[in-house]
Amino acid sequence: MSAKQISVLLISPDEEIFAAIETSLEGLSNCRFTGRKDTVARVNGTAVALSARHDVVLFDVDDSSPELLQTAQQICDARMPNAIIIALASEDLPLEKARQLKKLGVDDVLPRNAIHEEIIPQVDAIRARRQAQLPAVWGGQATLGKLIAVGKSRGGVGSSLVAANMANELQSKAGFLKKTASNSVALVDLDFQFGSIAALMDVAESDAMWRMAMEGSIPDSAFLEQAMVKSPCGVDILAAPSRYGPLTAIKEEQISAILDSLKRTHDYVVVDLPRALVEWITPVLTQADRLYLVTDVAVPSVRSARKLMDFYQAENPALEIQLVANLEKKPIIPAAHHRAAAKLLEKDFAFWVPRDERTVRESVDRGVPLEDVSSRAPMTRAIRKLAHETCLSLPPRVGQH
Ligand SMILES: Nc1ncnc2c1ncn2[C@@H]1O[C@H](COP(=O)(O)OP(=O)(O)OP(=O)(O)O)[C@@H](O)[C@H]1O
Ligand SMILES: [Mg+2]
Repeated sequence: MSAKQISVLLISPDEEIFAAIETSLEGLSNCRFTGRKDTVARVNGTAVALSARHDVVLFDVDDSSPELLQTAQQICDARMPNAIIIALASEDLPLEKARQLKKLGVDDVLPRNAIHEEIIPQVDAIRARRQAQLPAVWGGQATLGKLIAVGKSRGGVGSSLVAANMANELQSKAGFLKKTASNSVALVDLDFQFGSIAALMDVAESDAMWRMAMEGSIPDSAFLEQAMVKSPCGVDILAAPSRYGPLTAIKEEQISAILDSLKRTHDYVVVDLPRALVEWITPVLTQADRLYLVTDVAVPSVRSARKLMDFYQAENPALEIQLVANLEKKPIIPAAHHRAAAKLLEKDFAFWVPRDERTVRESVDRGVPLEDVSSRAPMTRAIRKLAHETCLSLPPRVGQH
C-alpha cells in the first residue's frame, strides 16, 4: 500500500523555525510543505484559506496581538476534517492564553524556541502516523497524553488507593477476559519520601528517582525506560525511591522532563502528589489536565481541602479541580455536614467512593487492584465510574492504537 500524501503548512516569520522545518521535510516523498514566512496577521485572509487545505497547520502566535484568539478560531473553524493544528508560541505565553487556544480547537501549543526538542519531533510523529494509514481513526485531537494529578486533604485519606485504581481502570481493558488494555497508562509516585504505589501495584521499589535527585540529572527517555516498571495489571509505574532523600533534592526541571516525556508515550499519566507543598509540584499543577482532590467530609479535612484548592488554583488559575469524597457513599439526600462541606468548598463533590474495608484490605495485602479482588464491589464500581468519566471528558490520544 502506498503511504498517504500529507501536506504541512507553516506560517511563521521566524527564519530559524522556517529553515528547520523545511529541511526536516525536504526530500520526503508523500509530504508536501507549504510555507509563509510571515505573521498570521499579515497573511490574514489567506492564512485561513491556506489552513483549510492542509493536514498539519503550524502557525506562529503573536502573544501581544489583540486578534490572536479570533484568528486562531478562524483557522480552527476552517480546518480540514482531521487536520492537526499546532500553535507556536513564546515560552512566556500566559497559561490562560494557552488554555484558551486549546479550547478553541488548537491541538497543541509548542514553545517556539524548542525547535529540535519539540516542534520537529512532533511534526515527524504526526507525519509518520498519518502515513501509516491511520487517517480513519485519527480524529484531529491532541498528540499528547492527558495528565491527571491526585492530591489529598490529609494523610491516609486514600489518595494513593484512588490514584492506583484509577490508573488501572483508565486502561479500559477489553477483549477476552478483559485482558487487553485500550489505553496506555503511566503512574508516577511523587510521594518521594512515603510513596506507597509500588506496594499497592506489586512492583519492586527502585532507587532511580533517588539517583536522579542526588545527581541532579535531567531525566531523558533512556532514564524512564530503565526506571519504569510494568505492574502485573499493565500500568507503567515510576515508583518512589527505596531510600530516603531530602525533598529539596528534586528540581522542577526534572519533574517537567519526566512529565513531558511520559505524555508522549502514554495516553494517561496519573501522578500521586505528595502532601508537602514543595516547589517541584508546580510543573504538575501547570501541566495537569485535571486534579482530583481526595478528601473525607470531616470538618478538618474539608478545611484543609479548601486551603489546598486555593493554593493549587493560585499556582494555576486554569486548573480544573474535582473533589472526590472518599469513605462515603453518595448520600441520597445530603445531610447537614455534606451541605456544610460543599458550602465551605464552594463546590460539590464530583465523585463519592464508599468505605469498603474488606475489598481494600484484600487488595492492599495481595498488591492487586480492587478490580481483581471484586469487580462488583461498590468501591471498585465507584473508581471505575471515575475513570470512565475521565476517559470521556479527557479522551486518549488518537491514532495510537
Ligand atoms: N474507601 C476505602 N474503604 C476502606 N478503607 C480505605 C478506603 N480508602 C482508604 N482506605 C484505607 O486507608 C489507607 C490509606 O490509603 P492510601 O494509602 O491510599 O492513603 P493516602 O491518602 O495515599 O495516604 P498517605 O498520606 O500515606 O499517602 C488504606 O490502606 C486503607 O486501609
Ligand atoms: Mg499515599
